Parts: sequence; C-alpha cells; structure tokens
Amino acid sequence: MKKKLSMLAAGALMVAALGMFGCSSGDPATQPTDNNSSANSTAPDNSAAANNDDAAVGGEIVLVNDGKLTVAASLDFPPFENLNTDGEAEGFEVDLMKAICDEMGLECNYLPSTKFDTIVPLISAGGKADVGVSGFTVTPERAKEIDFTDVIMDINQGVAVMKDSGITSVDQLEGKKIGAQSGTTGYEWALENVEGAEVLAFDEMTGVFAALQSGQVDAVAADLPVVQYYVLNAYQDAEVIAEVPTGEQYAIVVSKDNPALTKALNEAIAKLKADGTYDQLTQKWFGA
Ligand code: ARG
Repeated sequence: MKKKLSMLAAGALMVAALGMFGCSSGDPATQPTDNNSSANSTAPDNSAAANNDDAAVGGEIVLVNDGKLTVAASLDFPPFENLNTDGEAEGFEVDLMKAICDEMGLECNYLPSTKFDTIVPLISAGGKADVGVSGFTVTPERAKEIDFTDVIMDINQGVAVMKDSGITSVDQLEGKKIGAQSGTTGYEWALENVEGAEVLAFDEMTGVFAALQSGQVDAVAADLPVVQYYVLNAYQDAEVIAEVPTGEQYAIVVSKDNPALTKALNEAIAKLKADGTYDQLTQKWFGA
C-alpha cells in the first residue's frame, strides 16, 4: 500500500516535471480589443480627485504576450491549482483566472509548473509571466517585491501526521521533523511556532507528503484546504490534527511596474464577486 502510494506520488511529480500546461480560456467570441477599457479610467483633468494612485494606474497594461495573460503557477496545490491526468492546469484558481481572462478579453495561458519560491522573483523581474497565481498569501515581505491584487480567498494553516504516529496535537511536535514547501507561510509558521522542531523544506507539495509517508518527516504544515485535499485523495493513512488560525489571505501577484494590470484584475475580481461567478466557483471546488 505504502509503496503504491509513493509510486503514485512519484508519477505525479514526473507529470509536474514534464511541465504540461492547460487553461486556454478558449472563447473565440471574446473581443481581445477591450483589454484596456478598464484601465484608462483616470480622467486627465480630474484634479480634485487625483492622487498618486490614480496617476500610477493611468498607464497601459503591459503583457508578456499580446492578447494573453501569461500565468506562472506551482501546479502542485489542489484544489487551487494542480495538473489533471491530461496534464492540464485545473483548480479553483485556474477557473477563477479563466473567468478573469474572459472578463478582460484575454486568453489565459498557464506556463509549465514553476517552483513556488521562484515565482515572486520571476514576476518582479518581468518578461516571463504577467501574474503569479499559486495560493499566494499576502505578506508584507512579498509586498516589498511585488504588488498584490485584492483578496481572492481566506485560509488557515493545517497540520497532518500519519494516523499511526500517535501524534494528536501540535504540542507533541516539539523536537520532531516537520515538512513544508520551500518559501511558504507553512514553512515559516513551523519554524517560528514549533519549539525545537527541525523544519525540512521541499520544492513541491507532492514531495512534502511523500516525505510524510516515507517517515522522513513526522508532520506536514501547509495551507489547510490543500492538506485536507491530499489526505482525502491520496494519503488516507494520514490525518489532519490541527487547524492553525493564521488568518491568511490569497491574492494574485503582479509586477510593481504594471499597476494598470493590477487595477484591471481588481475590477474583474469585483465583477465576478458581484455577478455570482465567484460564488459558483467556490461552490464547485469547496462545496457549501
Ligand atoms: N499560501 C502559502 C504561501 O503563500 C503556500 C502557497 C503554496 N502554493 C503552491 N502552489 N504550492 O506561502
């Protein structure tokens, strides 16, 4: 049983490594001509209302590829973004990005899966992708490098262990090994909050769970919905023992050089929240 699951995980890793792509928003009827209409609302003579923010977002949206929103994502994070068996990106954030792209009259183009802790530097450097969408928690440190859009999801951290480990609470993790994905808030949380724990960093979420199963780590710390998903769908010998109320909020990562894009994304997010699309997607991926 264990062997089989490890092989499944290895298979998932290989698929991720092959780096397939997905998400073509694929509505040819969508007019690619309006993608600036939402970004040029700054009236030149609106001096009373004008402030620095308005001035900053008055420019044009800059895109890596014309007519396309190029998305960098670590596709190991179901139910937010993952590779399906056809090697296509799927998940709540993938659907949300497709809907946002439709709103903006852009084609949504996911790059091959990108290592999570390289995405913020990639967006900040520019030229490869327009946005980073990977369950990115808004943090002050990241906000120094990049801009965040408005919030798209609230989450907490979660901790999972193997059922036969005898560990039933976070207190019992003292001095134990905790696995987390490199550069994540789960990694930071474990480092700062679990006394004497040794925190091991892994490139991919799949690797974190494989390490739990093989006994390389005693526990996993990651975003709760993702921990729940892995336990339910692939690691039924593991269990979630704690929800840690970190009160994190996800947003889309955009270059500081592209304020008009951030503004247009925020307008699309607001529209999708107002017209029920956002609720439909949360229902589809998270149920009630
Ligand atoms: N929310 C956490 C963070 O921002 C973890 C995100 C990991 N995302 C991923 N696609 N693997 O650090």
